[in-house]
Amino acid sequence: LILVMDFGGQYSQLIARRIRECGVYCEITPFNTPIDKIRAMNPKGIVFSGGPSSVYAEKAPRCDSEVFKLNIPVLGICYGMQLTAHLLGGEVSRAQSREYGNTKLSIKDGVAFFANVPAQTQVWMSHGDFIVKAPAGFEVTAYTENTPVAAMVDEARKIYGVQFHPEVVHTPEGMKMLRTFLFDICHCKGDWNMGSFVDHAMAAIRRQVGNKRVLCALSGGVDSSVAAVLVHKAVGDQLTCVFVNHGFLRKGEPEQVVKTFRDGFHMNLVYVDAVDRFMKRIAGVTEPESKRKIIGEEFIRVFETESAKLGDIDFLVQGTLYPDVIESGTATAAVIKSHHNVGGLPEDMKFQLVEPLRDLFKDEVRALGKELGLPDDIVWRQPFPGPGLAIRIIGEITHERLEILREADSIVYQEIKNAGLYRKVWQSFAVLPAMKSVGVMGDERTYAYTIGLRIVSSEDGMTADWVRLPYEVLDNISRRIVNEVKDVNRIVYDITSKPPSTIEWE
Ligand code: XMP
Repeated sequence: LILVMDFGGQYSQLIARRIRECGVYCEITPFNTPIDKIRAMNPKGIVFSGGPSSVYAEKAPRCDSEVFKLNIPVLGICYGMQLTAHLLGGEVSRAQSREYGNTKLSIKDGVAFFANVPAQTQVWMSHGDFIVKAPAGFEVTAYTENTPVAAMVDEARKIYGVQFHPEVVHTPEGMKMLRTFLFDICHCKGDWNMGSFVDHAMAAIRRQVGNKRVLCALSGGVDSSVAAVLVHKAVGDQLTCVFVNHGFLRKGEPEQVVKTFRDGFHMNLVYVDAVDRFMKRIAGVTEPESKRKIIGEEFIRVFETESAKLGDIDFLVQGTLYPDVIESGTATAAVIKSHHNVGGLPEDMKFQLVEPLRDLFKDEVRALGKELGLPDDIVWRQPFPGPGLAIRIIGEITHERLEILREADSIVYQEIKNAGLYRKVWQSFAVLPAMKSVGVMGDERTYAYTIGLRIVSSEDGMTADWVRLPYEVLDNISRRIVNEVKDVNRIVYDITSKPPSTIEWE
């Protein structure tokens, strides 16, 4: 076990993730974790994360300095190194100018921590304070133009510090440094993997839940699916999943969810066919925010009714991932769209949350899903909004228009998949604008719908660009949709990035 002590840095989870990538189990613990608890956890090494504070600020997060006497190697990163210096008698001061971004690091000869790293290398800096004087017993091992103490070490006590961020990709040799710390200095084995994560997570879920009952709103998306299967593996039939078909799902989706979870994983799955109910509420509604609000509210109502039928339940599973944790922690941004998240329900019900994925990044969740035996179709599923096809049909939602979009969307899916692009793009789907136009088919005039294609690349959905799709793929999609989907005679490709557009059309 490696312990990452969190001093509020934005990269704490990334540090943990990099350590896991090295095959080493790691846990994040708050900076003020009592020393006895740390001792009891018996880590092979401790990493201090960065943080936004200045060590001399009144409310600066500090750990117990006894931690340096445990005889466990310590690596301080950024604020973590400044705190180390501060606690051990060095001197930290405010820099004239903040150092931010790529910087050239010069490393002194023969430093074990930098084994196999070139004497000059790029590192990522992001700091306002710097160490003026390393504490007694420390050797300065690297510097940059603006930072005289960019790395320091006390080999005798096995205490290390780096001012830069070895965990970010902008520090290309960073993983080598972390490996040296983990394997050569802490003597970790590196045999941890997703299988060990499953064992660990199951034990934690069992501890939390005991013999109580657990509920999960299953959407069929990657996050809720992986969370549900993991919890099921831990507590079996104590878990009940509720899957609401609101009628705005893609072709074959409800059937796939039932087949996967009920037949494949033998989970208690309550399938709620609420199509009529939602259609009644959404009839005649065209304003995008109204659609979102109505569907979100109706969803909560259906979910409440169903969970009430199940009797006493104490816990609710949520597929919250680490990026969701950071995002919800940030300041309020303008509401562009009111998101409806199946996992984010219901707000006013009194459940304790079970969030087994909250330390993981998306690609780790996929790896976990694979480990748990979920089918590729679910593990690699593209993001799909809670309100579903309802916000991809501009204007009024009718059975007929839903059917048109569902068929067109299914063709987009097949062709993108056939072209080997499904996993490469962020999202690829069809939208149905509220327009008809004139065409000609078999010498006859047609007056029919247009389908828009939205195929975007993105890292996180916050910004996106349209994909320069090969013309043949566009051509196949276009031909198939107009030939196979009734009442469509025109296909257009959305070539706007986000911003200024958004990914979904509503
Ligand atoms: P926009 O349209 O805002 O979408 O650029 C960004 C990403 O969020 C997805 N999205 C949603 N996801 N509930 C969700 O769970 C929602 O209500 C919702 N609306 C948009 C969208 O598909 C894209 O990946």
